[in-house]
Amino acid sequence: MSDGSSFYVTTPIFYVNDVPHIGHAYTEVAADVLARWHRQSGEHAWLLTGTDEHGQKILRTAIANGTTPKEWADRLVETAWKPLLETVNIANDDFIRTTDPRHEVNAAKFLQHLHDSGHIYTGEYEGYYCVGCEEYKQQGDLVDGTGEFEGQLVCAIHSKPVELLHEKNYFFRTSAFAEQLLALYESNPDFVQPESARNEVVSWVKNGLADLSISRSSFDWGIKVPWDESHVVYVWFDALLNYITAAGYGHDDEKFARLWPATHIVGKDILRFHAVIWPAMLMAAGIDVPKQVFGHGWLLVGGEKMSKSKLTGIAPSQITDTFGSDAFRYYFMRAISFGQDGSFSWEDLSARYQSELANGFGNLASRVIAMVVRYCDGVIPSPGSFEAADEAIAATSKRVTDAAGESIDRLAIHEAIATVWELVDELNGYITSQEPWGLAKDPARRLRLETVLFTAVRGLGTLAVLLSPVVPEAAAKLWTALDGTGLVGDARIDRAWEWTGGPKVAPLEALFPRIEATVG
Ligand code: ME8
Ligand code: MG
Repeated sequence: MSDGSSFYVTTPIFYVNDVPHIGHAYTEVAADVLARWHRQSGEHAWLLTGTDEHGQKILRTAIANGTTPKEWADRLVETAWKPLLETVNIANDDFIRTTDPRHEVNAAKFLQHLHDSGHIYTGEYEGYYCVGCEEYKQQGDLVDGTGEFEGQLVCAIHSKPVELLHEKNYFFRTSAFAEQLLALYESNPDFVQPESARNEVVSWVKNGLADLSISRSSFDWGIKVPWDESHVVYVWFDALLNYITAAGYGHDDEKFARLWPATHIVGKDILRFHAVIWPAMLMAAGIDVPKQVFGHGWLLVGGEKMSKSKLTGIAPSQITDTFGSDAFRYYFMRAISFGQDGSFSWEDLSARYQSELANGFGNLASRVIAMVVRYCDGVIPSPGSFEAADEAIAATSKRVTDAAGESIDRLAIHEAIATVWELVDELNGYITSQEPWGLAKDPARRLRLETVLFTAVRGLGTLAVLLSPVVPEAAAKLWTALDGTGLVGDARIDRAWEWTGGPKVAPLEALFPRIEATVG
């Protein structure tokens, strides 16, 4: 991390065939936490998200709904995908749609460039295609269908039948980049993360890379192939390019030079596209490969990947309507090791909300501020001489600030939050052992009371700054109550232990109010 350097982070662009579920919100929140953290580190952070609107899947959905693909996409983007960002409080810097002219024009430019430099050829292909994945499948990706699909081969991810396609198309010579890709994974072991994802990617490439069919002529919902308008660009080839077209490729060189390369946060379902095909496309075009590709795990329902197509999706608003966006963000970032699969449960969410957010953090903040109001007329006291217990809090503040930043650099979001929580727990223990309410009864111990409250307030300030990327609403309320300087979202996170607030506190409403209704 350094002042003024760029941190460009992306989510996948999501298919608009249906509305979002908590799996999509999960990726959004992870990328947003990283972007907010880096922004608070003084970097030029840039968060891109958006929608993937071309291809057969969207075309078929639109037809089934009696409309055109563009009208369908417009409707879903406005009524579902952009509102998702509000629902879970995403501070994105851009939103790209693959139907944006800036994307269509510059994606075509990229393809023409690859064609001109000899990376594209005409070929034929026959294989099993999954429209859900928008991908040709290998035998190993298929399983026997059950129920209505008994006797057919189905996609292991979507559990829907694949279609045998035979096409004459344009191909991208992906295979020519196998050696270069292996050298990349070797020389930059962090390029694909986590470790398990990296190993998988290396073994795919070692087992042989097939060239990629990059055009379709059986339908026309896509970007036209610039030298042959009877073909449209394959939806994945089109979609991956969003990361550079949004960053200025082909139309804003200064912006592109500033932003690129990006850190891509994706689900492990689309790791192959991001860690193999995408860098190969960039190598062919002579553009830097991404900085990093992180393939996170799946949210599971009944042991299976939560999915729009299997109707196991839970709408993010089902959670945020009751618990709020902060709790949504905290829960998924804290409870699931970033990179691993995780099962969502209402019981676990409720339990963590109550014990960690309401009792652990929220109560601590309310109690400390209430004591400053009661014992000091709301004026944050100046400390007397520090004792070991006070110095321990200051030391922990510094330690967790450094350690959490180091975890974020490794994209270990869950670890960063757990580290910050050591300060929450330690401050709670400090209040219990120092008993400021007892000190307040004895005028001779006035200076000690003031030192304890000062120490506690400064700890809260540190927490507000460190937790702002994760629970931005609660952090902002706390910051306001502490009379923090400026906006907490602008406060330097790498100096979170320093106190820059006061002189007076203001009363604080419960940050995480008790939730009465039973949910689920
Ligand atoms: O694949 N758990 O879009 P998509 C966790 N358009 N994350 C999940 C999830 C789950 N159960 N389900 C979905 C596409 N996701 C392409 C991407 S990018 C150039 C093109 C998240 O709508 C996760 O991020 O199918 C996953 O990779 C993504 O949604 C797939 O979204
Ligand atoms: Mg999908």
